Amino acid sequence: MNIVVTREELAQLAPVTGSTAVVMTMGALHAGHAHLIDVARGYVGDAGRIIVTIFVNPLQFGAGEDFDIYPRTLDDDVQLCQQHGADVVFAPSVSEVYADAATRDDIASGVSIVAGPLGDILEGASRPGHFSGVLTVVAKLFHLTRANFGLFGEKDYQQLVLIRSMVQALNFPVRVIGVPTVREPDGLALSSRNRYLSVDGRHLAAAIPAAMQRGLEVAHEGASSVELTVRQNLESIGLQPDYVVVTGTDLRSAPPQGQGRLLVAVKIESTRLLDNMPVSLGEPA
Ligand code: PAF
Repeated sequence: MNIVVTREELAQLAPVTGSTAVVMTMGALHAGHAHLIDVARGYVGDAGRIIVTIFVNPLQFGAGEDFDIYPRTLDDDVQLCQQHGADVVFAPSVSEVYADAATRDDIASGVSIVAGPLGDILEGASRPGHFSGVLTVVAKLFHLTRANFGLFGEKDYQQLVLIRSMVQALNFPVRVIGVPTVREPDGLALSSRNRYLSVDGRHLAAAIPAAMQRGLEVAHEGASSVELTVRQNLESIGLQPDYVVVTGTDLRSAPPQGQGRLLVAVKIESTRLLDNMPVSLGEPA
């Protein structure tokens, strides 16, 4: 496995005969990322190349968010990539990705991708500019890696929908693959930020997928019953969700009959936890 840190090193890797898949991460890798690497191999085959990017992107963090304390565990990350058969780890510095920009303000005042209205709802409502920061770095990493496939977890569902929209709207020659969320045995969606939780917080966090499951059980009654059930379940144990929303799978349409998406955001201690699940409205669970 090659570990490269500059754009030039990346560009100079020997050409591959097969196709290239990229798994973009901010490091602090866990079994969810490992699964993305495993799935990527199925798309590129043995002759192809899997590049894992590890980059904590300052542009997607707002003032007062966790950029400075975001876990940086490069040695462990490299080991996980190696164990799962990745071919390349690209772990650039901020100046390597954002040429002359020295600070987050410099970066933000440069050219960037505009996420549009979908970037302003749900996560975007609480984190202004977050999705423009995500799309800008994702666009750069697609270009730098020249990937044919990009694999992203459904855990960050809004991010996945926006990346698909960008790729389609701006004609990127890449196929975006959404991969179902990997969960702990008690149902909690894996996330690098779970490690911020105390033992009690971690215990409480399992209530999020449990409340969502209760909501899915009343999906035959429609979107508002699902939302109400999830919200009441969370509130009954003292959690105040930021949002509990059932929407169309494209996040744009009104709550449908048939396939939709249930999305939840809850803060536990100082950690914002996200989860989402597919929901079949109008059908008994
Ligand atoms: O999901 C993430 O880890 C990040 O948002 C991503 C896609 C690597 C962009 O920084």
